[in-house]
Amino acid sequence: MKSYRIASIPGDGIGPEVIEATLEVLGVLATRDGGFGLDVTGFDWGSERYRRTGALMPKDGVEQLKRFDAILFGAVGAPDVPDHVTLWGLRLPICQGLDQYANVRPTRILPGIASPLAGIGAGDLDWVIVRENSEGEYSGHGGRAHRGLPLEVGTEVAIFTRAGVERIMRFAFETARSRPRKLLTVVTKSNAQRHGMVMWDEIAEEVSAEFPDVTWDKMLVDAMTVRMVKNPRSLDTIVATNLHADILSDLAGALAGSLGVAPTANLDPTRRNPSMFEPIHGSGFDITGKGIANPVASFWTAAMMLEHLGEAASAGRLMRAVEKVCAAGILTPDVGGSATTREVTEAVCEAIRAANA
Ligand SMILES: NC(=O)c1ccc[n+]([C@@H]2O[C@H](COP(=O)([O-])OP(=O)(O)OC[C@H]3O[C@@H](n4cnc5c(N)ncnc54)[C@H](O)[C@@H]3O)[C@@H](O)[C@H]2O)c1
Repeated sequence: MKSYRIASIPGDGIGPEVIEATLEVLGVLATRDGGFGLDVTGFDWGSERYRRTGALMPKDGVEQLKRFDAILFGAVGAPDVPDHVTLWGLRLPICQGLDQYANVRPTRILPGIASPLAGIGAGDLDWVIVRENSEGEYSGHGGRAHRGLPLEVGTEVAIFTRAGVERIMRFAFETARSRPRKLLTVVTKSNAQRHGMVMWDEIAEEVSAEFPDVTWDKMLVDAMTVRMVKNPRSLDTIVATNLHADILSDLAGALAGSLGVAPTANLDPTRRNPSMFEPIHGSGFDITGKGIANPVASFWTAAMMLEHLGEAASAGRLMRAVEKVCAAGILTPDVGGSATTREVTEAVCEAIRAANA
């Protein structure tokens, strides 16, 4: 029997609540499936560790993660620690250190969940957002000078490299090709940003020549927000920069019902390093400890993890169980229900146990 080494980093806020639920569901799934096991190692990395030791993770944290097959991540962020400290102390060093350059964000409306868009239901909105995850606006380039003085300056430099853009474009075209509609939209802002973004467009054009079977178009990021709301059926696979896709995928999550159902995978497609799977949402300060965090985003990201590990049948079983529970109306308050995290988790476990082979 195969056994996968999983690093679990629940992190802060509702992170531990949804990761605990996910590990429980994965345990039931592994027992039900019988073909694989999960060897889970938990890490206490996060804001509590920062308060105790001054660092969110140890210096060799990224090295420690390299011996795992995959990483399951909750969320990071606490009200008393600046957000740039938490993000740059944990999640970004992991993504950059393990070269997880492709951030994949599937969005679709699950059965039983209502979109805020009138007349749009399950099947009308089925997207995969591919986010460049290693450079762009989040490369960390920039600085501050003359702090506190009237002439203080702060720069935030977006970095686009040919190698970085080529690999994410190729990944996005491949993703589009693997889906039935073979349709890709390249998001840009090359009207206002005339260097990196123009190079981004040119490289999209070049890479497209390798994929004659993929239909693609280009869209300015501002117009893209309108298209996502007004004409969701016209979209399928979407590729955007680190910042643009970060924003667009929160909108996508909301259009699919809630951030609580939005999963993501930070992939190193070369498989030289472990990939990291997490819900898109953050620590959810307003609902932490209330037992009502929606675990569906984390369940879905766990299905993506299983798929990545080669356990596609189990991934499918997990998603069918999640869909069955959503369709039965066992929903947390963020998607209009009154169920708790525990009730949704138990229902999903039960649906897995009851599933036919
Ligand atoms: N990947 C990450 O770790 C990540 C991502 C985003 C934000 N953050 C951090 O999280 C903290 C809070 O950020 P925020 O409030 O902007 O975003 P958030 O995602 O934590 O919350 C936004 C809203 O969505 C709701 N929500 C989120 N997840 C939910 C779930 N599973 N079930 C039900 N409702 C859910 C919250 O209750 C809140 O009203 C900040 O410190 C921020 O930096 C971390």
